[in-house]
Amino acid sequence: MERKYKLKSLNTAVSCILAFLLHKFCHAEKICSVPSEPVTIKENNTIDALVVRINTTTKNVTLTLTENPDNAFDLRGFDLILKKRLDFETLLNPEELTVQIRCNKTGSRSITLTVLVQVENINDNPPLFAQSKYTLDVNELTPVNTSVAQIEAKDDDSGVLYYALEPALNPYFRLENMYKPNILVNKTLDYDIVQQVTLTLYVQDTPPLSPPGQITYKATTTLIINIKDIDNRPPWFQPCTRVNIGTAKICLSVGYKGRVNLTERQEGPLQLLPGPIYARDGDKSRNEEISYKIVRGNEDNIFQIDENTGNITMLKPADIAGPISLTVLASQVSNRDQFAATSVNIEVMKKSRNPPKFERERYEAYVYSNSGPENMVLKDRTSNRPFRVRARDDDFANGINPDIRYEVQYSSYVNITTDGFVLLKKTVRTESFALQVRAVDVSTGESGTAALSVLVLPPVGVQSPSEGYRAGDMALLGFIMAALLVLCLIVIGYLISRLKKRNPDTLKLSEVSIFSSSLLSRSMLAAN
Ligand SMILES: *[C@@H]1O[C@H](CO)[C@@H](O)[C@H](O)[C@H]1NC(C)=O
Ligand SMILES: *[C@@H]1O[C@H](CO)[C@@H](O)[C@H](O)[C@H]1NC(C)=O
Ligand SMILES: *[C@@H]1O[C@H](CO)[C@@H](O)[C@H](O)[C@H]1NC(C)=O
Ligand SMILES: *[C@@H]1O[C@H](CO)[C@@H](O)[C@H](O)[C@H]1NC(C)=O
Ligand SMILES: *[C@@H]1O[C@H](CO)[C@@H](O)[C@H](O)[C@H]1NC(C)=O
Ligand SMILES: *[C@@H]1O[C@H](CO)[C@@H](O)[C@H](O)[C@H]1NC(C)=O
Ligand SMILES: *[C@@H]1O[C@H](CO)[C@@H](O)[C@H](O)[C@H]1NC(C)=O
Ligand SMILES: *[C@@H]1O[C@H](CO)[C@@H](O)[C@H](O)[C@H]1NC(C)=O
Ligand SMILES: *[C@@H]1O[C@H](CO)[C@@H](O)[C@H](O)[C@H]1NC(C)=O
Repeated sequence: MERKYKLKSLNTAVSCILAFLLHKFCHAEKICSVPSEPVTIKENNTIDALVVRINTTTKNVTLTLTENPDNAFDLRGFDLILKKRLDFETLLNPEELTVQIRCNKTGSRSITLTVLVQVENINDNPPLFAQSKYTLDVNELTPVNTSVAQIEAKDDDSGVLYYALEPALNPYFRLENMYKPNILVNKTLDYDIVQQVTLTLYVQDTPPLSPPGQITYKATTTLIINIKDIDNRPPWFQPCTRVNIGTAKICLSVGYKGRVNLTERQEGPLQLLPGPIYARDGDKSRNEEISYKIVRGNEDNIFQIDENTGNITMLKPADIAGPISLTVLASQVSNRDQFAATSVNIEVMKKSRNPPKFERERYEAYVYSNSGPENMVLKDRTSNRPFRVRARDDDFANGINPDIRYEVQYSSYVNITTDGFVLLKKTVRTESFALQVRAVDVSTGESGTAALSVLVLPPVGVQSPSEGYRAGDMALLGFIMAALLVLCLIVIGYLISRLKKRNPDTLKLSEVSIFSSSLLSRSMLAAN
């Protein structure tokens, strides 16, 4: 019983002490207070900006800062203020700064106030490129949509950045999109057309069409993109004709021609047409070293090519007349897979002592002004005989060289046949014209020329081709008609004599007349 009472009184005492302490605490809580929710402060604040005012019941308290992150806070009276600018980007934990203030009052226990400060990020940093100029090398023929480089800017505010490439209408490069500075090839590059492209890359930290008044920071950098000539083209024999096949460029050479004399070894390099053998690298700026080689047609080892210059020389004379066709290869010394082949046709000429010679030095011929294409030029004014030229070659006993070919020079009116007949190509509108005919011995290359003047005569006996029967034709027709008439008369005579023998019959007589008339009409048809 007594023990129970003691316990009870102890309980009461503890409760009393607790109540006292609680009272004291509550009292202390009351003398100083701060809002429990976090305080938000924008970075780049002004100095002395108020963070929070400490509520006190009495002015007779002492406040001390016990935790001061970054040493940025200060007390002025009962105000917690900022003594320097806060920078979101450099603070260790800007979203949660904890400031602690001890609040003392004589006679009471001190208490600690905690102020949570959140620093708000504002756009106060410009984006920056690491370099003001970037130099990039890109191989020509880099496929479209291939990335050349990704050049990002840094912004300490770590927001979204917006990029643009200028000039915007550069056809060769583009940005993947405005958020990603990935520079892509937009069009196949060809070193022959473009060797360098200079672009400006822009960046800004607000959307391109943001309202005015908003703070926007921008930065630019220069991109210098050098197009590199890659070894994609073989050597090209010169001269050549350029041909584009899709994006590929090729250059076609027609080959080379030359002449040597039969059983003669020529000294020095052969003179070729259209020029000496020469190939140049199709990749203009690479201009790789080229070496030459005869790969076909030189089985008899008559010719030799200079590996470096491409000049062809003779090692021995050719002993068979006719053409020799050589295949010459030009290949890049550094990359033999890049090569080109061409043909070199060398004509082996027979010896000749006399060149072809026309029978006359000048000729005269005639043509009617109404003559048209394919009409022959005529020999004289009176007859209609065609005009013909002949060239003799005294190397031949009969003067006829089968290798002679005729050519017309300086005239668009006429052409000449292999037999030496001259044909009009169009109607002549002048009173006369002159030209040169040339006879070439294709086996030796020798030639002779003669002058030809053609007089244009006014049209005579205008004939239309449909009525144009010649005298001979008409004579033949007359003869056939006469023969048929005689035949008819013979048949009629025979039939009459037979009728006279028998008794005359009217029916039979009419048969005879039908027969003879059909015979006549048929012969007329045949004549028409
Ligand atoms: C300070 O105390 C007054 C009265 O006690 C109260 O009205 C006010 O809201 C308090 N301020 C803060 C910041 O707690
Ligand atoms: C404040 O406290 C001091 C002693 O620390 C005392 O002398 C003074 O009277 C007090 N003032 C008030 C208004 O309580
Ligand atoms: C506040 O009180 C504590 C003890 O409660 C003491 O250590 C401290 O020095 C006091 N500070 C001031 C500024 O009076
Ligand atoms: C930062 O503060 C300075 C001075 O008050 C002011 O000139 C500047 O515009 C501010 N920057 C931002 C991003 O608010
Ligand atoms: C390149 O990309 C664009 C857009 O993605 C696409 O339209 C185009 O067909 C692509 N071109 C090639 C050659 O792949
Ligand atoms: C990319 O090429 C297309 C045509 O292929 C052209 O229409 C477009 O303007 C080019 N883009 C840029 C950014 O130049
Ligand atoms: C071939 O012989 C002719 C006549 O002898 C001479 O004029 C010519 O130059 C020679 N041609 C060559 C390629 O040697
Ligand atoms: C090659 O031939 C050309 C003429 O065809 C000549 O000008 C050049 O000097 C020759 N080169 C050599 C190395 O013989
Ligand atoms: C001239 O005629 C020849 C054939 O005899 C032919 O090969 C040549 O093409 C013709 N030339 C012209 C310009 O018509």
